[in-house]
Formats: sequence, C-alpha cells, structure tokens
Amino acid sequence: MKAIGGYFELELSNNKEYHSNAICLNSGRNAFEYILRAKEYKKVYLPYYTCEVMLEPIEKLNIEIEFYSINEKFTPIFDFTQLGKTDVFVYTNYFGICDKQVLKLSKEVDNLIVDNSQAFYSIPLPNIDTFYSPRKFFGLADGAYLFTDKKLNLNIKQDISMHRVQHLLGRIEKGAEEYYKFFQENDNKLKNQPIKRMSELTKRMLKSIDYDDVAYKRRTNFKTIHNILKEFNNLTFNLENTSVPMVYPFWISNGSELKKVLINNKVFTSTYWENVKDWTSSGTLEYEFTENVLFIPIDQRYNEKDLLLIVDLLGLEKGRITSA
Ligand SMILES: Cc1ncc(COP(=O)(O)O)c(C=O)c1O
Repeated sequence: MKAIGGYFELELSNNKEYHSNAICLNSGRNAFEYILRAKEYKKVYLPYYTCEVMLEPIEKLNIEIEFYSINEKFTPIFDFTQLGKTDVFVYTNYFGICDKQVLKLSKEVDNLIVDNSQAFYSIPLPNIDTFYSPRKFFGLADGAYLFTDKKLNLNIKQDISMHRVQHLLGRIEKGAEEYYKFFQENDNKLKNQPIKRMSELTKRMLKSIDYDDVAYKRRTNFKTIHNILKEFNNLTFNLENTSVPMVYPFWISNGSELKKVLINNKVFTSTYWENVKDWTSSGTLEYEFTENVLFIPIDQRYNEKDLLLIVDLLGLEKGRITSA
C-alpha cells in the first residue's frame, strides 16, 4: 500500500511528458542496445562523427561495425545499395538541426536508426526506430525515450537515479566548477549498465519541464546568435520551423583557440567528440569538426544578454573575428 502523510518528498510537477508514448529507458546507449537486440542486426554502420559510448552496445553484442563519413551539411557519404538485410544504418540528428536529413534518409534507407540524442524535440517518424537522451537538453541524471515497433521480451529492472544527481543540486548552490567532477563521476556511472527502465526520479523530473517555454527560448537564442555569427560561420544551415536545437555550432578556423578564450572567461562549451580524433586522422572533416567547431550554449538558462557577452568574448569586430 502506498504511504500517506509524513514528510514531503522533493516537490516536482506531475505534468505530461513530451514523448508520452515512448518506451522509457535508462540511457540513450541502452535504448540503442534495445533496438539492436530486438531487430537482431548483424552489422552496424556508424558515423565517425559520434559519441564513443555508442560502441558499448555494439561491443557488448559482438556486432560487426563499419564507420562512414559525413559532409559539411552533416549528410552521410554512403552508397545505400550496399546495405544488407541484417545491416543497420545509424544517423545522428546533429545538434537538433538535421531534421531534413533524417526525413530524406527515412525515405531512402530500409534499416535506419535515428539517434535523436541531440534532437529531443524532433518527432519520431513512423516506423523508424528512434531514441532520445533527454539529459542533453535538461537538468537530469540519465534516461532515454525509445520508439520502436518490436518489443523485447525482457524483464527489465527499474533504474535508480538518486545517487547520480549531486551535480544537478551542487551546481545550484556551489557553482559549475566545483561540481564538474561530480558531473563527470555521474556520467561515468552510466557506462556499461544493463538496459533498465527509466528511474522514477528522472520520470518525475521530465514531468516537471515546461516544454513549450524551453523550445521557445532555445529557438530564440539560436536565431539571435545565428544572425550575428552566420557571416563568420563556415557551416551553413537553416533552422526548420519545428526544430529545437541543442547548441549553436560555430565552425571557424581558430575555433580551438576561441574555445580557450571562452573557458578562461567561464563560458564552458562542450567538445563533440574527443574520441573522433582517435577514430579519424587530421585532415578529415570529422577531425576538423571536433577540433574547430565551437558549440555555443543557447539553452533555456540564457538570454540575449548572455549571448552578446559570448559574442563579445569572441572578439567580433568590424566584420572580423579578432581574438585568439
Ligand atoms: C550522439 C549521441 N548519441 C548517443 C549518446 C548516448 O546517450 P546516453 O549518454 O544517454 O547513453 C550520446 C551521448 O552520450 C550522444 O552524444
């Protein structure tokens, strides 16, 4: 029987989840594992340009892997006629701005997995296996949403998140730097986990988010910074009307230098992904992206004033980037 009365728990809302029809799991990589198991794929085509944790399930299940390259529009350079019946092609919706590429691939590729870890708001396409890692968009410790038509006959345990949330609480009271090590530790705890059901804590946190507000802020911030930086950005893209971006990718020849300038001024930008430098060689596009694309935060915590401060730090002057 459920306990009634006594002390209170953390006060969280109980609204609707954004992906309310999804299978709720513990992490993006485990959602990927779920698909690989359910569909019994024998070979995975994975982009060079992705996160190394995507290898975990492939290695765990001992599946053959081959990497493929992308071009400057984040489009795969790949001959799809070579895909066999038991092969699967994985595509990442990069930074939440590749919905068009996803749509095109969904029409061309029979066995496709869409990795929407960076595209929380992108709606899954019918009959396309798709997964999400919501902690890339919100303050959460873990969790994943999965859309697939084949259920695994597994008795899956429910995850427990309460030992992985110190960084979320600590950042509020002590600041980002002091709790960065807890973030890293908690991130590491997600490694080599079995497939589990999403924890109750993460589910409640996901039910507490104002999804419309977050989407509006991210899109507004993205457009604001794109208006300023697009003339310097070696990447060209359009934000689709329904896309909600994760970060603003800014490719500039001295990106790695500018990243240091930002860090020295307490503007922390992620690197996507350090492992790509081990998987590729210098001179490839993926290596260059990892080295020189700056990922400017445009999320719900920030407003125009914050963005202008970042632009200022980049040393944008009279049509030129001058710092570094
Ligand atoms: C593109 C991409 N796919 C998948 C994942 C895995 O998600 P999770 O950390 O929830 O397992 C990550 C990051 O970790 C990622 O960046």
